[in-house]
Amino acid sequence: MAGLIIAGVDGSAPSTAAIEWAADDALRTGAELRIVHVLDRHPYDLTRFPVPEQEDLLREAAGKVLGAAEATARNRQPTVQVSTRLIEGAPAAVLREQEASELVIGNRGLGGFAGALLGSVTMEVAGRAGCPVVVVRAERQETIGEIGVGVDDTGTCEPALGYAFEQARLRGATLRLIHAWQVPVHAFAPEILYDLAEVRAAQREIVRTRTAALRAKFPEVNLVEDVQNAHPVEALTSTACDLIIVGSHGRGALGSLLLGSVSRGVLHHAGCPVAVVRSQ
Ligand SMILES: Nc1ncnc2c1ncn2[C@@H]1O[C@H](COP(=O)(O)OP(=O)(O)O)[C@@H](O)[C@H]1O
Ligand SMILES: [Mg+2]
Repeated sequence: MAGLIIAGVDGSAPSTAAIEWAADDALRTGAELRIVHVLDRHPYDLTRFPVPEQEDLLREAAGKVLGAAEATARNRQPTVQVSTRLIEGAPAAVLREQEASELVIGNRGLGGFAGALLGSVTMEVAGRAGCPVVVVRAERQETIGEIGVGVDDTGTCEPALGYAFEQARLRGATLRLIHAWQVPVHAFAPEILYDLAEVRAAQREIVRTRTAALRAKFPEVNLVEDVQNAHPVEALTSTACDLIIVGSHGRGALGSLLLGSVSRGVLHHAGCPVAVVRSQ
């Protein structure tokens, strides 16, 4: 991909994990890494009049956060080209408007409440950025050698599939093509009976058709077809892997929603990094 990977840092443990993931991916793809900290003065304006020296203290603290993040990246991948930026503004808006080939952030940050699984910046950036957004958790995990991608029956997952094949190739990892199907709840038409063998065959065919072009383009990628009668979130998060890739919206998409329900569910329940790739 050569390009620019931007990692957002706020000094939290998940954001440190995001820096390490971003440094690894920069090495894999040949991209440059830029570490961005957005200085949001708004929460400090409690007194509604300027506090002497607050100005300098905030910039100084922000500089320390960036310095520590840069050291983390250089330790992790000494050969990757790393730079840092301090930008003032609202974190989610600034991050999602960055021109990058990929954005990497933590699943949580320094704020939020104790039980929260996803931070507000995470939700907003993952749903709205123009490039793939990788959400990383603080917990480290061992490399498994397999990544998973959600395949649905719409064109909306195509950018996610393209990203997934490329990641699998770069990592030399097996790519699990995960497609979940469910018989609709029989509230309206209980008399419809499905031949389950036919349904399974048809659902497997969806995976074949949707991935045919990419299989031809990436013959070296080892694939596992995983067609499950399950809820998509369950199907996507039930197998341990190094990375789960989903589109930002699926069939049920409402234009106003930040993220589709499956993408949101996967971000909540996954134990590994999740790449959300914007659906066209
Ligand atoms: N001010 C910021 N500058 C850069 N990145 C940020 C900033 N705030 C949050 N992020 C990124 O977004 C991730 C999630 O943080 P956030 O959504 O703010 O969670 P919380 O609500 O727990 O604070 C962080 O791990 C970090 O990668
Ligand atoms: Mg925060």
